[in-house]
Amino acid sequence: MSKSATWHPASWKVCPIQQDPGWPNQAELEEVVGQLKTLPPLVFAGEASRLKNLLAQVADGKAFVLQAGDCSESFAELSADMIRDKLKVILQMAVILTYGAGVPVIKIGRIAGQFAKPRSSATEKVGGVEMPSFRGHMVNDDIPVPSQRIPDPKRMMSAYHHSASTLNLLRAFTKGGFADLSKVHMWNQEFVAASAEGRRYDAIAEEIDRALRFMKACGVDLSEGAPIHQVDLFTSHEALLLDYEEAMTRVDSISGMYFDCSAHMLWIGERTRQPDGAHVEFLAGVQNPIGLKLGPSADPAEVMHMCDLLDPNFEPGRLTLIARMGVNKVTSVLPQLIKAVQESGHRVVWECDPMHGNTFTAEGGRKTRHFDDVLGEIRGFFAVHRQMGTWPGGVHVELTGDDVTECLGGAEDILEEQLPLRYTTTCDPRLNAKQSIDLAFRVAELLRG
Ligand code: PEP
Ligand code: CO
Repeated sequence: MSKSATWHPASWKVCPIQQDPGWPNQAELEEVVGQLKTLPPLVFAGEASRLKNLLAQVADGKAFVLQAGDCSESFAELSADMIRDKLKVILQMAVILTYGAGVPVIKIGRIAGQFAKPRSSATEKVGGVEMPSFRGHMVNDDIPVPSQRIPDPKRMMSAYHHSASTLNLLRAFTKGGFADLSKVHMWNQEFVAASAEGRRYDAIAEEIDRALRFMKACGVDLSEGAPIHQVDLFTSHEALLLDYEEAMTRVDSISGMYFDCSAHMLWIGERTRQPDGAHVEFLAGVQNPIGLKLGPSADPAEVMHMCDLLDPNFEPGRLTLIARMGVNKVTSVLPQLIKAVQESGHRVVWECDPMHGNTFTAEGGRKTRHFDDVLGEIRGFFAVHRQMGTWPGGVHVELTGDDVTECLGGAEDILEEQLPLRYTTTCDPRLNAKQSIDLAFRVAELLRG
């Protein structure tokens, strides 16, 4: 039977579930969920539908997606500066891609809700002490103290409020003048501006300034209502904690359909993509645009089946397949998946996540990724699409606006022994601002080529 016949926001509860945090106190959980259900939605159904329409253009090969942000947002780091700096990098990357490749760029943040993490192992050993793994600030604390690792459902309420304040500021920044194209120079942070990437960015910013002056001189209307004064930044996160996602699901008064109003786009992670599992069941029934991570073990028949489950109405833009194969597997695994999807008739967006298939542990024990592997996987992804005549629709990256030392290489050539200098992530290693800008230039070249 198709899922739509039996689906309701709680129908996932009878399905097998992976990555369940194991809330210790059911009554407390129910109380939080009950409260969340009464709170206002974080996003509107109409915005999610708008994103779906934009993603349909990507599926058609007419636009490109930049999905970017933290691996795991931190309650402790929520500040205006942090949100602004992350936004700056995303805006800079989008400008580089739009200007460099001449295609519209749809911007989606891993932001304002990316607080829950799947883990490969339920427990970890820190300093010889065994404790539950950190599962994101929406579940427990990252500090390595066993009592702080006990899942606490009240953290879901906190995640809602942290998401709301992040989103509030993002809306102010993107609609209130900060993201105005005439401010393009201002997004270059000081520590970036002095670098080669920063100077290359400044050259584009200068050209944009000149183009704007030229348009103004020609009498093109650039007054308040013109689209150059605002941007759309959509939000997304992994829909991992289904109690939270269910509580944020509302019926849209216009369409009468269910939308998960915790973010515009939600995705299913590599560890929770079982076709009969709870996460697939839940996202199959909400009308948001959704993503599905695909690692190297994904096989064509399974992917086709997932497309039928998650995109039953063959709606362009509904489903984004996010390939995270690793630099050594992308060219061998991806072609057969693309072929299967093409034959199935589903018009999906193909994104490349060049981060999660390229993680390794450096000698000092820190998880890291090398810039060359990240770029290498993107190159492989583009090569496969070019060869098959399909559209490489976007990139999905983990980054921060800070000057961290978490990923190796890049123009500054960060070395293993430098990782401890500024390694602040609570989960996976992120590209720093310079590495992100460098990457955007390379992707723009690939798009042009
Ligand atoms: C992530 O996006 O942070 C993540 C855990 O990815 P994946 O599910 O692809 O491993
Ligand atoms: Co991650």
